[in-house]
Amino acid sequence: MAVEVKMPQLGLTMEEGTVSKWIKKEGDTVKVGDILVEITTDKLTSEVASEAEGTLIKIVAEEGKDVPVKGILAYIGQAGEVIGGTAPAANHQVAPAPKKDGKTTIAVIGGGPGGYVAAIRAAQLGGEVTLIEKNKLGGTCLNVGCIPTKVLLHSAEALAEAKEMAELGINVEVKGVDWNKVQAKKSAVTNQLVSGVSGLMKANKIKVIEGVASFASKDTLAVTKKDGSKENLTFDKIIIAAGSVPAVPPIPGVKENANCVDSTGALSFDTVPKSLLVIGGGVIGIELATAYSRFGTEVTVVEAMSKLLPMMDGELTAQLRKIMETRGIKIMTDAKVQSVEAVGAATKVNVEVGSKVEAFTAEKVLVAVGRRTDTEALNLDAVGISHDRGRISVNDKMETSVANVYAIGDCLGKVMLAHVASAQGEIAAENALGEDVNYDGTTNPSCVYTDPEFAGVGLTEDKAKELGIEYQVGKFPLMANGKSLIMNGGVGMIKFIIGKEYKEVLGVHILGPRATDLIGECALAIGMEATVEDIFATIHAHPTVTEAVREAALAAEKRAIHIPNK
Ligand code: FAD
Ligand code: NAI
Repeated sequence: MAVEVKMPQLGLTMEEGTVSKWIKKEGDTVKVGDILVEITTDKLTSEVASEAEGTLIKIVAEEGKDVPVKGILAYIGQAGEVIGGTAPAANHQVAPAPKKDGKTTIAVIGGGPGGYVAAIRAAQLGGEVTLIEKNKLGGTCLNVGCIPTKVLLHSAEALAEAKEMAELGINVEVKGVDWNKVQAKKSAVTNQLVSGVSGLMKANKIKVIEGVASFASKDTLAVTKKDGSKENLTFDKIIIAAGSVPAVPPIPGVKENANCVDSTGALSFDTVPKSLLVIGGGVIGIELATAYSRFGTEVTVVEAMSKLLPMMDGELTAQLRKIMETRGIKIMTDAKVQSVEAVGAATKVNVEVGSKVEAFTAEKVLVAVGRRTDTEALNLDAVGISHDRGRISVNDKMETSVANVYAIGDCLGKVMLAHVASAQGEIAAENALGEDVNYDGTTNPSCVYTDPEFAGVGLTEDKAKELGIEYQVGKFPLMANGKSLIMNGGVGMIKFIIGKEYKEVLGVHILGPRATDLIGECALAIGMEATVEDIFATIHAHPTVTEAVREAALAAEKRAIHIPNK
């Protein structure tokens, strides 16, 4: 049986390579390790060695041909062997794009950062777009997610800074928190952004229907409008961007206790709670713990796993944990909430830690154990859209199992981030309008808006180890960076993970001031398959925290200037 010789993946973002020179010819005998062919990418030239012994019976990709990663270059087998026909990869969707009056009609279900971006892109490409939203434009992110949390965090940080002003030589009297004003600021920012989205819909001639959409057939949506009326609407293409809602864990006592709230409830407390127990040390739990602790709440975080923020770099997560604990936040990991009971006006939370059960009493309990997709109303099964317990299945083109139906964002139940939903929205819209593009999450940054901020892109060190990649690490403590020292006393670190052989940037992790902005440069580096040499060659302004990005890259090659290289 012939063995395939495939295009290797030489960098994280490599999608294809060019066959530059065949070293072996058809009919040649080859041994394991013999160099068969030279390939090039826009970054490097490499050789492909044989992983099999036999005869090079067929060269499929001639010199000069571009071949996708894992695409077949040749076959090795027995002399004279005939290769069976290889079936082309199954295409998810086969139906051609129908058009009406020259315009493709597109429905977008959901007006969050996935849906409204998809709608705008579809309109830019000439689609006749209708967006159906059951609640408010802007979705979770603008109304009860990214934006309102960041408003609270900004006020909380301002309060902390005001208290520390004397250190900077500024004498101010901090009288406390006017919670109504904090809430008013939150509403003002949110409303401004939501009305901005509404304006964008009008500017792009997108029809917005307020109502709940459900599949009546593969191309028809049954829409129940806000006024109670119902209408069936047929479209050429449908993009599902239905998002997610908070998950409620089956912890006894949680559902019936009014002091137990989800993130939406925790963004709108009537007053700043005296004490808050957070169930779940993920992104929501850690961001809101940071905010409320700054507002003066006594905060306890209970996380079931052995570390907080499981998707972030472990070394920096441990540093963040210490910083939070120093500020008075109590953090318990490997701890499971067993039950919740009302005790007068407060709530008792029973937590299993090791073999013991500890009881904590708090005024409020934030339940932040993840989110589930909001797809129940869509009637997916009736039209055969594949899903796994409500998480819609798609390919890289964002196509579902049903022709002309796409899905994006949180409703896929994978990476639940606004920028991912938007990126996927653009891809879905482009494919719906006849382009042929794939979603690639390699440059997707993860950001946690703690103090200091925490951001990462690409591989963590743990992931590089797990994948068996040979890597080098470069670390730069922000204590040695002038701007960080001015801004937050030099708390934090930048960490580079680079490939050992080609020195390409595999991952960057930043705990420090402006980490969530700095990560953009690093995402670009990964997207462009940059090597550390490219980072070295870029002049970074002084004094900025960006200098520390370059220093961390230099440290990976033991060339850092402002720290001794070990
Ligand atoms: P959503 O924003 O959830 O939008 C889906 C929309 O579809 C909703 O408006 C819903 O009403 C509507 N809808 C659903 N079903 C139907 C139907 N049948 N008919 C009509 N309409 C329907 N992400 C970040 O990247 N950065 C952050 O800082 C960040 N902070 C967050 C903080 C919190 C507290 C939370 C909860 C989330 C946060 N997120 C953050 C996650 C982010 O909000 C989501 O990833 C993002 O909103 C997903 O976008 P989406 O368009 O897929 O879904
Ligand atoms: P999450 O998945 O980030 O974290 C949930 C945490 O709860 C996990 O660490 C999990 O181990 C823990 N957990 C689960 N059950 C538990 C239990 N019974 N007891 C104790 N701990 C338990 O989910 P979270 O924080 O609810 O956020 C949902 C999503 O919203 C995130 O995955 C993220 O995609 C998005 N988000 C993004 C933000 C950002 O980008 N800055 C900010 C906030 C949310």
